[in-house]
Amino acid sequence: MAKNTVLVSGGAGYIGSHVTVELIEAGYNVVVADNFSNCDATCFEGVKKITGKKIPFVEMDFCDAEAVNDLFAKYKIDAVIHFAAFKAVGESVEKPVLYYKNNLCSFLNVLDAASHHGGCNVLFSSSATVYGEAENLPVTEKTPRLPATSPYGNTKQICEDILRDTVKATNVNRSPEWAIKGIALRYFNPIGAHPSALIGELPRGVPNNLVPFITQTAIGKRECLSIFGNDYPTADGTCLRDYIDVVDLAKAHVAAVARMLEGRMEEDYEIFNIGTGRPVSVYELVSAFEKVNGLKLNYKYAPRRAGDVVAIWADTALANEKLGWKAERSVEDTLASAWAWEKHIAEMEAVKASSEE
Ligand code: WQD
Repeated sequence: MAKNTVLVSGGAGYIGSHVTVELIEAGYNVVVADNFSNCDATCFEGVKKITGKKIPFVEMDFCDAEAVNDLFAKYKIDAVIHFAAFKAVGESVEKPVLYYKNNLCSFLNVLDAASHHGGCNVLFSSSATVYGEAENLPVTEKTPRLPATSPYGNTKQICEDILRDTVKATNVNRSPEWAIKGIALRYFNPIGAHPSALIGELPRGVPNNLVPFITQTAIGKRECLSIFGNDYPTADGTCLRDYIDVVDLAKAHVAAVARMLEGRMEEDYEIFNIGTGRPVSVYELVSAFEKVNGLKLNYKYAPRRAGDVVAIWADTALANEKLGWKAERSVEDTLASAWAWEKHIAEMEAVKASSEE
């Protein structure tokens, strides 16, 4: 049987590169397209080393409607996984127009091209941010979305609604082969790296997220980790999150693509929480990192960070049942993989520096 082709937009990025590896290992043809605005070719080289495959790659901007259309004209795309978006919460507050323009235009171009090239299955990279400060925890897919606390989070809510409305329109007014089916995966906090340590998170500049800041502090790139707030109403005073291993997260994408391509969807548009269901505090994560990697981390307590929610974690029953997927990696193994990746980056930088001497 001919293999299905999956387009991964933003496939050279942190989550996109891990999903590309798992799709190839699951036997799909994969086309990757990225403009390298928030990553570099290093990740993509790692994907080729892990899979041993030459993967069709297109360097392009998804805000360029013509380029997106050409992509769908060139490849017979059975499913698209859309990662291409900016994702720094703090930066989105400072630069809202940049975020709305980039994150909305890129997704609209994908849906427009898909609907003009015979329909398609669309998997959207959403986020637990859409829940805001949920009153009842853990959150289920039925938990109401609260007003977003950042333009970044708002673009995720808006794109979910764009996908929902596009799916509805194309399944009512068109013949099935032109329809668009959609799944939104709401990630919690992706962390860690591939066990090979050949791909992982490569944040540009000072990391916004906790785990890359921890590993950069441990390797000596950062002087000290600030834990933003230890006066929250939690057991140890620090915020609670649902930290999900990036490889577990990638496998959830393969399960969702299979559900769409094998015709197992029960609705034309479906939403799934992708987390572990286990709340972990910042302090617990730091302590686990120190213990599993046998090191002492330099950290201090600092004032709360604006926009942070006290706690959020997932009810994952729906993904467990309908996708047949469950997070498997322990937070300790994930933190060990994050540290191995940081050390791999240091090795790559040392080799680069010595070759430039
Ligand atoms: C986690 C906890 C911080 C850094 C965001 C987006 C989400 C997703 C992941 C893209 C919080 C604390 C952090 C630091 C700290 N983004 N922290 N010191 O904000 O939960 O989620 O990133 O996919 O959509 O909303 O993640 O890692 O920034 O913070 O104490 O130097 O770590 O206060 O409690 P967050 P995070």
